[in-house]
Amino acid sequence: MAASQRFTGKAALITGAGHGIGRAVAERFALEGARVIVNDVNADRAAEVARAIGGEAFAADVSSKSQVDAMFDRAGAVDILVNNAGNIYAVRHFLDGDEAWWDHVLGVNLKGAFLCSHRAAQSMARRRSGVIINMSSGGATKAHRGNVAYDASKGGIEAMTRAMALDLAPYGVRVNAIVPGLIRTYEIPDDVAVERGKVVPLGWLGSPEEVAGPTVFLATDDARYITGTCLVVDGGVLVQQRSTPVDTFPLSRFPQL
Ligand SMILES: NC(=O)c1ccc[n+]([C@@H]2O[C@H](COP(=O)([O-])OP(=O)(O)OC[C@H]3O[C@@H](n4cnc5c(N)ncnc54)[C@H](O)[C@@H]3O)[C@@H](O)[C@H]2O)c1
Repeated sequence: MAASQRFTGKAALITGAGHGIGRAVAERFALEGARVIVNDVNADRAAEVARAIGGEAFAADVSSKSQVDAMFDRAGAVDILVNNAGNIYAVRHFLDGDEAWWDHVLGVNLKGAFLCSHRAAQSMARRRSGVIINMSSGGATKAHRGNVAYDASKGGIEAMTRAMALDLAPYGVRVNAIVPGLIRTYEIPDDVAVERGKVVPLGWLGSPEEVAGPTVFLATDDARYITGTCLVVDGGVLVQQRSTPVDTFPLSRFPQL
């Protein structure tokens, strides 16, 4: 596929870009001509991705104000910020939760997005131009078992997206969120993926690249009239009601065309 060069002259900082969705987003911005700043708390991952795409690696924990400040001091003004860093593995039953668990999940997923956005938005607002994209989750509106902290953080992300969009719109800065569905960013055998994909109306687990395209779209000029929205990229998972008909009206009963 010949890539357009829509982001030539633009700097895009992607947090948590050492793996999974963030890596795919970083790759796509690089393919389309952006100067890409690859952040990850894992320095080796950030360095490896930066090397692969010709970007710049910045190891920093987004939940630490001093590390975020140091990163932005070195990176300079950015045109696009994708707040993607998140911990998808902090699953615990509510009754087993504790303060450290809550602080960690909210710290990375929500406070991290605030700290990075706050730094990026200062220069964006002065330049009357900029795009911020936050990575939400279906958990923002529909609960996952064992994910009270995660779902609370993502509910916060969506509320923060709307509120930031309002405050920053007069400065020409757009703020939106992507709501990924079940995305295969972890190692599982193909047959397990096929089985898990059956709960997705479109029929498969999403790939990081299938999230990267819509994420990058929100940063283009085609999206210049879009702010404060949460774009769902989930193959139809969230529109589906988990009720008896989902199980008693399986695909095998659908018309064979
Ligand atoms: N995979 C899914 O199905 C899914 C679904 C909905 C939402 N999301 C969201 O998408 C985002 C990316 O998820 P993923 O599946 O690609 O995750 P992933 O675990 O594959 O990658 C996340 C990356 O973020 C980095 N990271 C973690 N904590 C960090 C911190 N404090 N500072 C900087 N970097 C940090 C990790 O080192 C890792 O490289 C997350 O915000 C997640 O909540 C994922």
